[in-house]
Amino acid sequence: MNHKKLDKQARKILRENDRGGYTVPTRRLYPYQWNWDSGFAAWGFAAFDVKRAWFEIQTLFHGQWDNGMVPHIIFHKRADGYFPGPDVWGTPRIPHTSGITQPPVVTTFARSIYEADKEYGRVHMELLYGRLVSWHRWFMKHRVTDGMVAITHPWESGRDNAVDWDGAMANVDGSNVGPYERADTHHVNPEMRPKKEDYDRYLAMVQFSRDSGYDEAEIARNGPFRVADVGMTFILLRSCRDLLAIAAELDHITQEIRGWIHTLEQGVSRHWNENGGFYDSIDLRTGEHAGSLSSASFLCWYAGMRDDRMLPHLKRILDNVSFAVPSCDPESAAFNSLRYWRGPVWGIINTLIGLGLAEAGHIEFAERIRRDTRKLIAEHGFYEYFCPHDGAPAGGDAFTWTAAIWLTWASPSAKGRL
Ligand code: DGY
Repeated sequence: MNHKKLDKQARKILRENDRGGYTVPTRRLYPYQWNWDSGFAAWGFAAFDVKRAWFEIQTLFHGQWDNGMVPHIIFHKRADGYFPGPDVWGTPRIPHTSGITQPPVVTTFARSIYEADKEYGRVHMELLYGRLVSWHRWFMKHRVTDGMVAITHPWESGRDNAVDWDGAMANVDGSNVGPYERADTHHVNPEMRPKKEDYDRYLAMVQFSRDSGYDEAEIARNGPFRVADVGMTFILLRSCRDLLAIAAELDHITQEIRGWIHTLEQGVSRHWNENGGFYDSIDLRTGEHAGSLSSASFLCWYAGMRDDRMLPHLKRILDNVSFAVPSCDPESAAFNSLRYWRGPVWGIINTLIGLGLAEAGHIEFAERIRRDTRKLIAEHGFYEYFCPHDGAPAGGDAFTWTAAIWLTWASPSAKGRL
């Protein structure tokens, strides 16, 4: 493997997906700024252009709502070929945005970028801090139930069609959404994307939120979908820990953030599924566990939990696949090696799992995951996701976050830690 050449290619992908202040996840399929994609992009840019890294974070926060929420898409300027666009979301602000959020990885990456160059980053971090706090406060006020983070749409999790949502999705009525035309299946093989019945329901949820005027209280009471997402709880817990470290560094009062961490730690124990013996999501409408052992269940170490009950599952799954970590347990009847979040390997989740495992001292597991990710990218390119059995690349090509995690974590020349 010529990793210097791959490093160069990765930097080129970030530059080419740069739209002058924000980075698109990949051209055509995702032509706007996505929230957690941008967090990874900023971290990737920081490997060679720290100024551009901070700019990425600033443009993301241009989309922040008055209530603190940071939307999952910012529609800075008109672009063709994506559905549902700004007209469907109908949010009352400029720049136009979607009306849901995404996992707050940007807090963790902003901290890492700051730690690497405090002198340059100080003023950026001071300007960002209040915005980060108000986003976290929004999560805690509107979305945290019994210490677990509720999502109101599968797109908020970032793991759109994960098996975790199957039970809750079955109770969403998608039969009245009216005619629409998807754009994603024009860009990639439909077998690699969510199905039509999923999209009908995705739209029903968007329409409900839009018609409520994006009223969080009404969405909490009557929204068609409300699931405590194990991945979101772990990621928010991690980001609160990093926010606490930032607050201490900037001499801000930390009591409120300590309280959030305590609340979320209590929530983590509620995510434990006694029957399955793993961390799991919960349908908040029925109170039932999803019964889905997904790659997000392995984010417990990233969240700072020192709980090794998940290790035997990880070992079994890694013994079962050529490439770690499949997004769904390969022994599950719902596993599909190609279809988006129902089986394929995602480099970004591998990175978060790997970072957490390394921090918890599980170096061998962390290294296996890093080696597999490196091999997938070196052999197949910077794709969106990959088959865990034969490594076949899938989804979008020249993908921003795959290039970003290559530069920061997967490449032999990467730092490999936060
Ligand atoms: C999509 O359009 O597939 C996105 O994942 C939604 O955010």
